[in-house]
Amino acid sequence: MDARRPLLFFDSGVGGLSVLAPTRALLPQAPIVYVADSAGYPYGTRSEAEIAGRVPALLGRLVERYRPRLIVIACNTASTIALAAVRAALDVPVVGTVPAIKPAAELSRTRVIGVLGTKATVRQPYVDDLAARFAADCTVIRHGSAELVDIAEAKLRGEPPDPARIAAVLAGLFGQPQGERIDVVVNACTHFPLVGEELAAASPTGVRFVDGGPGIARRVAHLTQGQDWPAAPSGGVAVFTARPPEALFPALARHGLSRAETL
Ligand code: DGL
Repeated sequence: MDARRPLLFFDSGVGGLSVLAPTRALLPQAPIVYVADSAGYPYGTRSEAEIAGRVPALLGRLVERYRPRLIVIACNTASTIALAAVRAALDVPVVGTVPAIKPAAELSRTRVIGVLGTKATVRQPYVDDLAARFAADCTVIRHGSAELVDIAEAKLRGEPPDPARIAAVLAGLFGQPQGERIDVVVNACTHFPLVGEELAAASPTGVRFVDGGPGIARRVAHLTQGQDWPAAPSGGVAVFTARPPEALFPALARHGLSRAETL
């Protein structure tokens, strides 16, 4: 394995940075290609057919161009819809990001858990399946929000989230029947941990949030165990499918992405 071959992270926007951060903490030497399909953003309001058509084709182009050793689909929407198709199409290990319902069920005392994702993710049979396998004795309450994705994107461009908008999004979850009993919320969209502090501040006291980022980081470290890496800590490149706003560059730099290019 050539030490320079990167890990490729893929999302519709900056959400995947919440998966990149714990992975970099474990593997600081890993060269990174972070891809934001900004021309396709947002995924959460698209149809299954659009995502299933777009994501494997785009990843195919990216594999040819960047020759990653491993791909992380750092997007719940793309993973719950297209993970199997991507794996079938590409000859590279692919790690997906799917709602962290299992750890949430392990933590919950009230046995009522919330799943906060995009509208597309929360309606997926993949989520029904996770709930049946890992939270069969829990009530699983779902809420899909496109607004929260936009709020997270704006925060990374330097625009502070409006607490009233965050509260309105959360009302859609906690306001459902039995919602007041939720004690663990799954951040089932990779954008949402980026506004984790704001979500916690606007939630009932004691509610905990979980996401897949740390588990994915451990999985990537496991799958690449024994492989060669560059001797010094590596940075990375951020790749966009539509020209990125400059306001995003400081946040990218904080994640080690000091260069940006448009596909
Ligand atoms: N970050 C993505 C996810 O985890 C999708 C956000 C969007 O483009 O709607 O689902």
